[in-house]
Amino acid sequence: MTDRLPPVLISKEAIEQRVRELAEQVSADYAGRDLLMVGILKGAWVFLADLVRQMKIPVAVDFMTVSSYGASTRTSGVVKIVLDLKSPLENRDVLVVEDILDTGLTLKYIVEGLKLRRPRSLKIIALMDKPARRKVDIKADYVGFTVPDKFVVGYGADHGERFRNLPYVGYVEPEEDNNGTG
Ligand code: IMP
Ligand code: MG
Repeated sequence: MTDRLPPVLISKEAIEQRVRELAEQVSADYAGRDLLMVGILKGAWVFLADLVRQMKIPVAVDFMTVSSYGASTRTSGVVKIVLDLKSPLENRDVLVVEDILDTGLTLKYIVEGLKLRRPRSLKIIALMDKPARRKVDIKADYVGFTVPDKFVVGYGADHGERFRNLPYVGYVEPEEDNNGTG
């Protein structure tokens, strides 16, 4: 453990500005609808908290925790639901909120599972998108920032549970093992 802070990739100010824009766009798109925002824990918690406070329309919030199967810290694509939603999705407009879309394996699995619950609509908002690493065909409907192929931390994203509380997004060096835990 060092006390070195990760270098800045996206500043606190840039995040604030972009989250405000996203909230305005989502509010306009879902005006008059029954919006349920589903945060994927733990990574999405900070983003979701800031996003909903900028929204101009009524919104319900629920959470889901998933974890990859197996000992590997790399995404396997097979995920286990550790904590499921309390809300029924049938006929509701569901917006899944993620910190980062990386290989896409986790989100693809989640979205396919949620579709079986017959929401009226199902879309994805991700604070960050790392398209260079995509392994499956999935896109977020709303993206905050497209990021380079670096292991990012902060504003909810972790490296071995560290740095989630950074107010900005930074990155850790590639020689350190990638072990974000969601
Ligand atoms: P996937 O590879 O798209 O399945 O990503 C699964 C999860 O891994 C994401 O929701 C994040 O929580 C985490 N993750 C992926 N890339 C990063 C990163 O660069 N930093 C921190 N966590 C990450
Ligand atoms: Mg996550």
